[in-house]
Amino acid sequence: AAAPMLTKLQQDCATPLPVLRNVAASMSDDIRAGLAVDGGSDLKMILSYVDSLPTGDEKGLFYALDLGGTNFRVLRVELGGKDKRVIAIESDQVSIPQELMSATSEELFDFIASALANFAHKGGNFPGKKGEIGFTFSFPVKQTSIDSGILIKWTKGFAVSGTVCIINFGFLGLTLWSSFITEHMLRHCLAHAGKDVVACLNEAMDRKGIDMRVSALVNDTVATLAGARYWDDDVMVSVILGTGTNACYVERMDCIPKLQGEFSPSRRTIVNLEWGAFSKGLPLTVFDRDMDAASINPGEQANSSFNIFEKTISGMYLGEIARRALLHMAEEGSLFGKSVPEKLSMPFVLGTPDLSTMQQDGTEDLHTVGSVLYNVAGVETNLSSRKIVLEVCDTIVKRAARLAGAGIVGILQKIEEDTKDAIFRKRTVVAMDGGLYERYPQYRRYLKEAVAELLGPETSQNIVIEHSKDGSGIGAALLAATNSKYGRNL
Ligand code: BG6
Ligand code: GLC
Repeated sequence: AAAPMLTKLQQDCATPLPVLRNVAASMSDDIRAGLAVDGGSDLKMILSYVDSLPTGDEKGLFYALDLGGTNFRVLRVELGGKDKRVIAIESDQVSIPQELMSATSEELFDFIASALANFAHKGGNFPGKKGEIGFTFSFPVKQTSIDSGILIKWTKGFAVSGTVCIINFGFLGLTLWSSFITEHMLRHCLAHAGKDVVACLNEAMDRKGIDMRVSALVNDTVATLAGARYWDDDVMVSVILGTGTNACYVERMDCIPKLQGEFSPSRRTIVNLEWGAFSKGLPLTVFDRDMDAASINPGEQANSSFNIFEKTISGMYLGEIARRALLHMAEEGSLFGKSVPEKLSMPFVLGTPDLSTMQQDGTEDLHTVGSVLYNVAGVETNLSSRKIVLEVCDTIVKRAARLAGAGIVGILQKIEEDTKDAIFRKRTVVAMDGGLYERYPQYRRYLKEAVAELLGPETSQNIVIEHSKDGSGIGAALLAATNSKYGRNL
């Protein structure tokens, strides 16, 4: 009885070319609408204030902090100036304790400051002058300058109190999460609730007696783009596919109406899409909608969803969608026999890494699939149920990767159409990073296939999708150097 349920799931998740074309076209349209005016589309199109990209001549000792992926990372990067000479990179990695994800902002930032202090002291060369930091903070931030910004909303399971910008319309007795922030609202926010994340970090560093300051506050996509661009001038777009997902790209300032001003076509800046919020034309199932409703960040109106693109394509959620589908098949289709395995009712018990492990199983009796299901969910399986489980994983992952590919094509098409840069006729690089992209071979393959289907053989030869592993670390340090408050600090 589980087989027809699988067929239904496959139909609901199908991403044939017309669906992908529609997603790509809607992504381009949403990009344009979000560039026109704040709140113009699902995409916030956040201005990064990064308008000069690394040149290769950066020099000095800089720190980088990276918060928002699976691990919190601290790096020290020594840039030699001239010809992209990186003298040394050292780094430390700490996982964020679960309880800190829902703690107060002071507790979270104190933890970060302590990790930075430990790292800096361990290296023995605590800089005499004020140390400068490139702070990669991978959440939606309304940037107010290169070194300040206000968190709009936590994503990816974080729910730290005391940082999000809440606009309080007292006279209506309404509190709205801010998604359409004007300068006026922003001032209101600053006065009332939303805190600058850089100020939060600076205060924590003061509490810990650390003499360092943030010179650049950047999204992980922006840091990855800067890092990849340092080595390769053809990098135009960067995409993170990890716990969460997002993209940014290099845009001409004269294509950004909301910037309001006269700009020459040669002036460029990086724009952060926050594409997790994209929502048009996605083939969704009841499992996606239920997962959204049960999440800590559901859609706020009836029939709406929050960050549904992210919830359909990124690492935090794929295992959970599969779990919900399998539980349904167990309950209604006796997938695992008469009884329903109890553990399978636990949200997030099946992780996306488990899906990847199962999909790498090359044994005839699908031995690995069997042991993952047994270890993770306490499920005893036979070969036929293992095969169905694998099909479920493949269906969820294929949809995710193909939609991600369509999103990338949407960005490329927007650049091509509006700026006449002819990026399709020359080598153009999309820098990718994140655990999902790195550790899920099928995901990578499906994504690349979708991009090739959409662009056709000739164009897709010019589009290079490249893994830029941990490029965000050096990227953030480079941006701290470019925006140094003290000039060259070595
Ligand atoms: C890392 C990048 O490799 O990927 C980070 O350097 C990014 O900046 C991270 O946030 C996201 O991946 P994950 O899988 O850790 O969420
Ligand atoms: C989430 C964040 C975004 C980040 C992405 C990848 O979507 O909102 O800012 O870039 O995850 O880490």
